[in-house]
Amino acid sequence: MNANLSVSWIDTGAKGSPTENRNWKGLTMERLDKYLSDCGAGTRSQVKGMIKAGRVTVDGKPEKDPGRKVGAETVCLDGQPLKKQGRRVILLNKPEGFVTATEDRVERTVMELLPREYQDLKPVGRLDKATEGLLLFTDDGDLLHRLISPKKKVPKVYYARHEGTATAEDVQAFRQGLTLGDGTRCLEADLEILGPGQCHVTVYEGKYHQVRRMLASRGLPVTYLERIREGELTLGDLPRGQVRPLTDQEIENLDA
Ligand code: URA
Repeated sequence: MNANLSVSWIDTGAKGSPTENRNWKGLTMERLDKYLSDCGAGTRSQVKGMIKAGRVTVDGKPEKDPGRKVGAETVCLDGQPLKKQGRRVILLNKPEGFVTATEDRVERTVMELLPREYQDLKPVGRLDKATEGLLLFTDDGDLLHRLISPKKKVPKVYYARHEGTATAEDVQAFRQGLTLGDGTRCLEADLEILGPGQCHVTVYEGKYHQVRRMLASRGLPVTYLERIREGELTLGDLPRGQVRPLTDQEIENLDA
């Protein structure tokens, strides 16, 4: 793996208790510490400190419980009302030849493909240098971890061209969960044979070179790989090398 990769794409596991739900009016309620953090007041641990220090009020009353649920209330830090900043999520149609890293001393990184206003976003998971297709970026750490956590079972669909011909036994082996040559256990995955040397692979996790290694383990070395879907999102008609921001509705759908 690239030693300079500065964003982790390994599963970090599910977060603790749910951070967001709705009250009886359908209004989104979320934990006070998450709300403060989403407003840009600091990291989750920094804002917990601010809450415990008594610097935060909810509708004028001091609140020291970081887990208190807030919705339409006015939240102030040091007497100043806070306003939630919109989250940003963008979709890149990644071309081959770029590594998924925020910096690298040798290789060109995916950040070079993003306009200046998106340079503070982080890639969601990872595509290999040679892999093309759908790569998301966001400034929302919770969303990022949800999308890559195997526990959340967000499907990632790949189109692959490979040597050899896949069979019904390969489909079955993917469905049961493959064990790779080095003993790595993969979760259940779907292999759909499209024709000689072509398939779709759906995985729910992001291990190193996973799809290439899965197909290679069945004697089907990959010659071309493209991610075509993540969750409900597809590339649509976005040209290779281009980015587009997700709509508010698309971002909400990612939360579901
Ligand atoms: N699996 C791979 O082998 N490569 C990728 O880039 C993504 C998934």
